[in-house]
Amino acid sequence: MTDEAARVTLKTSGDVAFARQAAAKAMAAIGASTIKSTKFVTAVSEIARNAVIYGRGGVISFSEAGAAGQKRVVAVCTDRGPGIDDIDRAVSDGFSTGKSLGLGLGGAKRLVDRFEITSSSKQGTKVTLECGPR
Ligand SMILES: Nc1ncnc2c1ncn2[C@@H]1O[C@H](COP(=O)(O)OP(=O)(O)O)[C@@H](O)[C@H]1O
Ligand SMILES: [Mg+2]
Repeated sequence: MTDEAARVTLKTSGDVAFARQAAAKAMAAIGASTIKSTKFVTAVSEIARNAVIYGRGGVISFSEAGAAGQKRVVAVCTDRGPGIDDIDRAVSDGFSTGKSLGLGLGGAKRLVDRFEITSSSKQGTKVTLECGPR
């Protein structure tokens, strides 16, 4: 995984596309299956889009975790936006303060092997997504 691909600044929807590319590249680097890569890329896309739309932009970085032969990809997306008041409600399907379906967070959570979210009005929002190859 190159350093160039490992960190994407998120300001526009074009940047979300770059994040998708970086996610696919990171999954290819661990030899992920097509289905697993697609799941991870979709989750990354939702989280990156949220950072652009709700988080006033942010950064997503990709790294590998685990020993050789059992590598996983970890994506950490941070923003300095207003934060999320009620995380459980935000993650539940159908909740949106925008004009979309409210399936992004819940969907992303179901698509990855590990999903963590922390948020506060002072620090903004941080979402961690982790996926293994299969
Ligand atoms: N990075 C973020 N910063 C602030 N609020 C967020 C962020 N991500 C999500 N949210 C809040 O959580 C809600 C649910 O997000 P999501 O499930 O992706 O649905 P949608 O994007 O369709 O609104 C959003 O409508 C928004 O209120
Ligand atoms: Mg969303």
